[in-house]
Amino acid sequence: MAPFTLAHLSDPHLPPLPKPRLIELAGKRAFGYVNWTRNRHKYQRREVLDALVADMKAQGPDHIAVTGDLVNLALEAEFAPARAWLEGLGPPDRVTTIPGNHDAYVRATFHRFGETFAPYLAGDDGRIGFPSLRRRGPLALISLSTAVPTLPLMATGTLGRDQLASLEEMLERFAAEDVFRVLLVHHPLKSGARHKRMIDSAELLTLLKRHGVELILHGHDHIHSTMWFEGPNGNIPALGVPSASALAHGHTPAAAYNLFTIEKDNTGWRCEQTVRSLGAGLQIGQIKHVKLI
Ligand SMILES: [Fe+2]
Repeated sequence: MAPFTLAHLSDPHLPPLPKPRLIELAGKRAFGYVNWTRNRHKYQRREVLDALVADMKAQGPDHIAVTGDLVNLALEAEFAPARAWLEGLGPPDRVTTIPGNHDAYVRATFHRFGETFAPYLAGDDGRIGFPSLRRRGPLALISLSTAVPTLPLMATGTLGRDQLASLEEMLERFAAEDVFRVLLVHHPLKSGARHKRMIDSAELLTLLKRHGVELILHGHDHIHSTMWFEGPNGNIPALGVPSASALAHGHTPAAAYNLFTIEKDNTGWRCEQTVRSLGAGLQIGQIKHVKLI
C-alpha cells in the first residue's frame, strides 16, 4: 500500500487585512492594527501564500492540516475570505483546521471561527468541540484548541482542565489500537517566551508521557522547529512550520510547509518529513528531507 501523505501548513494570516471599521479598533485590535500597517503587511503576502499552496496541491497530499492563525485581528470582514481560501485547499473531508490565538483575538468575535469553519473542525461524530477526532487512512487526527482571547501584547494559549481530561479519555481508548496518532495544536509545547507560551503545556506533556501520540504538529512561532518529547515508547517528534504567507524577514524564515509520508512496515511506523520552502522569485523547492521515525 502507498504511504499516507499529510501536508502541514500554518499561520497563513490571510493577507491583505481588510480595512477595519473604527468601532472595531478599540482595545487590543488597535495594537494589532498599528503592527499590521507598520510592519506585517510588508511580509505577510498573498502571492507567497498562493505560490506555496499551488506547490502543496501539486504534491497531491491525502490530507492537509492547517494549525491556526487563519486571520489576523479577527475582524468580521476577515472570516469570509478565510473560509473561501480554506475551501480552495480542498473539501472538509480532506482538510482539517484548528484555531490559533489570532482567530480568537478578541471576545467580540470569539465565536466566529467555530461558525465559519465548522465543517473543517468537526470530528467524525459531527461534533464541534475540542478535542476532536478524525480518522483518515492509518491516521487518527486529534485536534486541540489553545485559542483564547488575551490582553493586548499577549499571545498565550491554554487548553483548560476539561479539554485535557477529554484528551486523556480519548487517548486511553486508543491504547489497544494500531493507529498513527497525530496531535494538532496551535501553540508549541515548549516556549522560551512567557508572553506567547501555552500556559498548561506541562499538564499536556505529562499526559503525553503516559499515553503517547506518534506525531505533534503546531504553528505559532513562525519558524522551522523540531522538538522531541518523552512518550511511553520513546520520544515523540513535534514539528512547527513558518507562516505560510511570510517573506523572510529578520530571524523569521520564508514561508514553508511540511509533507509527511506515513506507513507501517513489520518493524513499526515509519514517518518521513519533507520541507518545501519559498525561494527566490516565488519558487518553491525542497530544502530538507529526514526520517523522523
Ligand atoms: Fe501566527
